Amino acid sequence: MEKYVILGGARLEGEVEISGAKNSAVALIVAALMVDGVCIIENVPLVSDTYVLVDIINQLGGRAEFVDKSVLKIDASCLECCEAPYEMVRKIRASSYLMGALLGRFQKAKVAMPGGCDFGVRPIDLHLKGFEALGADYSVEAGGIVDLRAEELCGASIYMDTVSVGATINIMFAAAMAKGQTIIENAAKEPHIVDVANFLNSMGANIKGAGTDVIKIKGVKSLHGGTYTVIPDQIEAGTFMIAAAATDGDVLIKNVIPKHLDSISAKLLEMGVVVEEFDDSIRVAGTGFLKKANVRTMPHPGFPTDLQPLILTLLTGAKGTSIVTENVWDNRFRYVEELRRMGANVSVDGRIAVIEGGGKLIGSPVSSTDLRAGAALVVAGLMADGVTEVFNIKYIDRGYEEFEKKLRGLGAQITRRVDGEKGKSATIA
Ligand code: EPZ
Repeated sequence: MEKYVILGGARLEGEVEISGAKNSAVALIVAALMVDGVCIIENVPLVSDTYVLVDIINQLGGRAEFVDKSVLKIDASCLECCEAPYEMVRKIRASSYLMGALLGRFQKAKVAMPGGCDFGVRPIDLHLKGFEALGADYSVEAGGIVDLRAEELCGASIYMDTVSVGATINIMFAAAMAKGQTIIENAAKEPHIVDVANFLNSMGANIKGAGTDVIKIKGVKSLHGGTYTVIPDQIEAGTFMIAAAATDGDVLIKNVIPKHLDSISAKLLEMGVVVEEFDDSIRVAGTGFLKKANVRTMPHPGFPTDLQPLILTLLTGAKGTSIVTENVWDNRFRYVEELRRMGANVSVDGRIAVIEGGGKLIGSPVSSTDLRAGAALVVAGLMADGVTEVFNIKYIDRGYEEFEKKLRGLGAQITRRVDGEKGKSATIA
């Protein structure tokens, strides 16, 4: 078990380079299974979620390997196996994409219900409804194994009751090679939805409207290989923007698409932080104080739920009462208990958190409850007086490439240690 040890108080200053988007890469890696040829995917983030998927592809009989730093070569031309048992998929939520990709290519798939970060019920009913509309039958076997089959997949009109990133992507996969046209209404509009559509189109698919509520997919007979570059990670960029503000720092965040960061920039500006946009970078600088604010998470282009733990942590440093409303997930405030351990004054009632900000956080031992909560606790450690230990950092490793190295490059005092290992000195630099 590894942990982070952080000595709070350092202002983050300098430049940081953002990696490829984790949530995009995990979809593109699975999409490559639909291609009868070689896909080269560039700018793949080196995080445990992408390594797990590389293993899954190799276990399924495809060939996936990093041929250069962040460059992944996937050859699924010889893939025959359509079964992904629980032991294979349990570590990663994005393995649910195997359902749409294998069903789309082979008209059958047997995939166990996936694992991933736990913040309440994570249903897949919309995925299954979409597959059914395209002509697939399914049964759920003992052990939560979803067995999907179709004689032939045929295009259909699908209205999504809830905006779902995963269901939108899975239905795009299954429809890409179905007969005729599929229309997805009330589709998710996240940047990675557009990235997945662009990837599939570059491999020969015909998908229009990604990034709007209505996506139209005309099925094609097959997809061919090619090379594609993953977009920059919106959530990693947002994390560094918030970390810069939280430490009253001054950071240039490079390799970003500023448009993807609009909701975050707007909230930081409202809080009195300086945000300056350039073509492919963004500068965030503190002004010595933070104003309170209310935040409501929403599907894109609203404020992303994945940055909710981070903005809430920042708001603990803003004098006055702020309210954060979580509109996407049922149970995404579990980390608040850990923040309270650090002296934060936050109360939670269902999906609403009330933050009485302005007090100083105090360094404490805390434990990550999921990926983004883990990153938020690291930011809390940077804001706090004294030493914070963040346990369970395997969650952070799922989605942040070289997190502590990037933070150290900005002046943070953070080290990774094996739990139980003693520091070499009283300060931890
Ligand atoms: C994706 O998860 C992301 N994961 C999550 O990021 C992110 O929090 C989430 O989208 C929302 O933005 C990946 O992209 C790999 P959803 P996903 O389907 O696709 C309900 C991170 O930290 N719903 O958009 O699983 C569901 O309960 C991760 O990087 C149904 O009701 O999320 C939720 O309330 C964590 N039925 C809402 O929709 C369904 O069949 C949004 O979920 C599917 C979802």
